[in-house]
Amino acid sequence: MKQLRFLCDYVLGGVGVLYLFTIGVLRARHRIFIQNLVSHLGLRRDKVATRPLSILPTIHVNSLLTSEQSVCLTEAEEVYGNVSTLELALINSFVRRLGPKAIFEIGTFDGRTTLNMAANAPTDCRLFTLDLPADQTETAALRLDEWDRHYILKSESGSRFKGHPLSQRIVQLLGDSATFNYTPFLGQMDMVFVDGSHSYEYVLSDSRIAFQLLRRCGIIIWHDYGCDCLGVTLALNELFASGGEFKALRHIRGTRLAYLERRPETTCPPPVGGGIFPVATTKTRNTRSLWPESSR
Ligand SMILES: C[S@@+](CC[C@H](N)C(=O)[O-])C[C@H]1O[C@@H](n2cnc3c(N)ncnc32)[C@H](O)[C@@H]1O
Repeated sequence: MKQLRFLCDYVLGGVGVLYLFTIGVLRARHRIFIQNLVSHLGLRRDKVATRPLSILPTIHVNSLLTSEQSVCLTEAEEVYGNVSTLELALINSFVRRLGPKAIFEIGTFDGRTTLNMAANAPTDCRLFTLDLPADQTETAALRLDEWDRHYILKSESGSRFKGHPLSQRIVQLLGDSATFNYTPFLGQMDMVFVDGSHSYEYVLSDSRIAFQLLRRCGIIIWHDYGCDCLGVTLALNELFASGGEFKALRHIRGTRLAYLERRPETTCPPPVGGGIFPVATTKTRNTRSLWPESSR
């Protein structure tokens, strides 16, 4: 069965390659794929030879983690599948500076990041975290990455925040990020953390959804950019190349985090509420960037 599946992939891949190297090169995402293929084969002579090509403008960690700002770090012990402790400190720092009222996370895993975001957010902030139940692995709407199964097939989702006092601020959601009904959450989130499936198809879909979830001002953070997760890197590269709002995507150098800050010209309205979480603020937010300009 496995051999047959590979044979199908082999034939389809061959046809795909023919297309890719002919009329396929007219599309930016295919050109980026060819560059990544060259890197993957070790044919590129620079130091990113074994990694997919990162094209996002980079920003230095030191300009985001400053000595004027402290963050709370909880559940510091890292297990395979978590963000690194440096990445966690950066995410916590984003939360601290933004002071969000609502955060949406795609990909709960053990809930380490969820709990940390809750610990650094204002007390009236609500966190929504979505995870794919293990028994929906085979029926997922889009292609899953080979590695996704390691994180999906766990005994419990969100085990780190279960029974924790901060869990009162966390709303656990179960479903497939591609088919989940996001209607009550659209346009209401101050921050979205995209860390679900690593396949190219899911990252594209989750990223577009993240934009719809975001208020007019806010931040989206992605994990696993620029490492061996080809799907994440390809998808974010493609979104960046497609322009529009995704042109603001930045990669935090030395980490696997990418982020995008949405900052309209006009002042942001207060959260809309809509009944899914208490609206506690009427404060208007300023339009000044929270972050320094990126540097290459
Ligand atoms: C790398 S782990 C997330 C790690 C977590 N955010 C953290 O910081 O510790 C990826 C998570 O995405 C979830 N996931 C994978 N595919 C998904 C899908 N289609 N919809 C929702 N969640 C998905 C997996 O179940 C897993 O819990």
